[in-house]
Amino acid sequence: MTNEVLLDFNNVTMQFGGVTALSDVSVKIFRGEILGLIGPNGAGKTTCFNVMTGVYQPTQGSVVFNGSDITKLKRFQITQSGIARTFQNIRLFSEMTAVENVMVGADARKTSSIPAALLRTKHQRAEEKESYDRSMELLALMGIADRASDAARNLPYGYQRRLEIARALATEPELLCLDEPAAGFNPAEKQQLNELILKIRDQGYTVLLIEHDMSVVMNVSDRVAVLDFGKKIAEGLPSEVRSNPDVIAAYLGVPDDAA
Ligand SMILES: Nc1ncnc2c1ncn2[C@@H]1O[C@H](COP(=O)(O)OP(=O)(O)OP(=O)(O)O)[C@@H](O)[C@H]1O
Ligand SMILES: [Mg+2]
Repeated sequence: MTNEVLLDFNNVTMQFGGVTALSDVSVKIFRGEILGLIGPNGAGKTTCFNVMTGVYQPTQGSVVFNGSDITKLKRFQITQSGIARTFQNIRLFSEMTAVENVMVGADARKTSSIPAALLRTKHQRAEEKESYDRSMELLALMGIADRASDAARNLPYGYQRRLEIARALATEPELLCLDEPAAGFNPAEKQQLNELILKIRDQGYTVLLIEHDMSVVMNVSDRVAVLDFGKKIAEGLPSEVRSNPDVIAAYLGVPDDAA
């Protein structure tokens, strides 16, 4: 982790009609860190991702990435500027093979125009080969290259989750946002995923990790931010956050003084 701010989420408020999903939330993500974002159901975690990736425009506040204001950019522009995400509910192209799913991610960065693609120029064939090779590398990184040619829908659940991460990495992000990547995993699978996330970070990516399960995020995060009812209630080292009375109260659903 460096002291360079990669993403600055500034005083963001997000309202949906009468629902305030985020209320004046500020979080900085430093280049090279794994920042865990935790909080109970409905705390606003996924909404943070949706605001960062241009799915929603915040009601108030701004998002600055790599020094540029990206608050009003469209989703594809944010992908191109270097933020990738996975989804809480897996979103793969189910009829496409694993490697094709990853190649779609790589395409998000490609330069071939549509007419060039129709003519299949030398340049385009070279790009296709490059994107295939890179996609196979990413499947290998995620430990799922043995099923590269299987349709996504035929892959075991754990493979599908890891395939989503490979596809996100194919867009060559600087910031990788993972929305509960270990959902539905048993403890051994969660441990394996933690090791993968550390490996990804060691390759130079910055990671924002949403987790519901506190124990998972504590083991892997450099720092942790905690949301509860749309407000940031704590931020700091895992050890600090774990013993914070407000955090314990939020998780146990008991008043502060009883926690
Ligand atoms: N598009 C939307 N329209 C209306 N309300 C929304 C919308 N998106 C989120 N919300 C509301 O905002 C609040 C925060 O939701 P969000 O999905 O961000 O929580 P979360 O922390 O990701 O929860 P979970 O752990 O269940 O995934 C919830 O009350 C939710 O119902
Ligand atoms: Mg969520």
